Amino acid sequence: MALKKFPGFIDVHVHLREPGATQKEDFTTGTRAAIAGGFTFIIDMPNNPSPTFSLEALEEKIKLADKKAVCDVGFHFGTNGKNLNAFKSAFLHPRVFGLKVYCNHTTGDFLIDDPKVLEQIFAAWESPKPIMVHAEGEKVEECINLSKKYGRRLHICHISQKEEVEMVRKAKKAKLKVTAGATPHHLFLAASGIKTLGNFALVKPPLYPKRNQDALWKGLIDGTIDLVESDHAPHTKQEKLAEKPAFGLPNLETTLGLLFKAMHEKKITEKDVIRLLYDNPKRIFNIPEQKDTYIELDPAKPYRVGENGYQTKCGWSPFDKWQLYGKVENVILHGKRVMNRGEIA
Ligand code: NCD
Ligand code: ZN
Repeated sequence: MALKKFPGFIDVHVHLREPGATQKEDFTTGTRAAIAGGFTFIIDMPNNPSPTFSLEALEEKIKLADKKAVCDVGFHFGTNGKNLNAFKSAFLHPRVFGLKVYCNHTTGDFLIDDPKVLEQIFAAWESPKPIMVHAEGEKVEECINLSKKYGRRLHICHISQKEEVEMVRKAKKAKLKVTAGATPHHLFLAASGIKTLGNFALVKPPLYPKRNQDALWKGLIDGTIDLVESDHAPHTKQEKLAEKPAFGLPNLETTLGLLFKAMHEKKITEKDVIRLLYDNPKRIFNIPEQKDTYIELDPAKPYRVGENGYQTKCGWSPFDKWQLYGKVENVILHGKRVMNRGEIA
């Protein structure tokens, strides 16, 4: 077997659920899923039951993460529009990499739907650390305009529709400080092909018809889309099957294998994989250098998703039984072997 060395990959968008929803995931299981998926640096989202809206909540999370995590973890600060006076200490904090703003409904109660409040948030985040938005459709345009007005770096999370790709392409042509990410599920699952997944395909933003998926691939290849973010959003099987099902999909363990599958099918190159999961996330979110850190795998070797179970506590994947490529064999983090021949230490 020809093992090849790659950098420890970076995922700028994960939900590790601790504190408050550890029936879904915690810092131990979530970071083990990251290592199994080839990621050595991940950034956790603020939408916990008691959200990361204050320095106290942030420090509590950092304490929990530092006790349990098996890879490096950074954090995004959150806002309900009422914590603007906490922004400065948040963006000056070395463990904070961005501000997450929800312009559309999702898990938790974070919606910023008053345009005036959205503008106050952009005005108050006086930092080069990106404002990450969950923005769909015309909300993307609104955020791009605010980024322009206040000179803020803007990262559009999980773009999912053709029109959104075009808005980002236009913003980049105008040299605005706008970047965008796409998720594995929007790239690999189109609404038409997922009937068998039922509630297990429910996610925000939703999966759209295939013409959107094609536009995402085009944007990924021409550089309009800067990175792939997993939006790892684990929920228990019970929560997915409930009368009011939870939205979100786990993806830390499948993102890399899916991209190597695309490489196997000659849709992208190895250089693209490194650009999307390492170079661009590192540059856009100003991730510190991880010394003596790398992973090893054979990018051409096929494997079945779930064949050895899952590290994520939720224990399922929308890509269960898919044939992917390049299962992670070894992970060296800061000079320490945290995964050896597929086994996490
Ligand atoms: C996420 C979650 O479950 O926390 N759900 C989702 O469908 N993506 C929230 C989010 O990132 O929007
Ligand atoms: Zn998310």
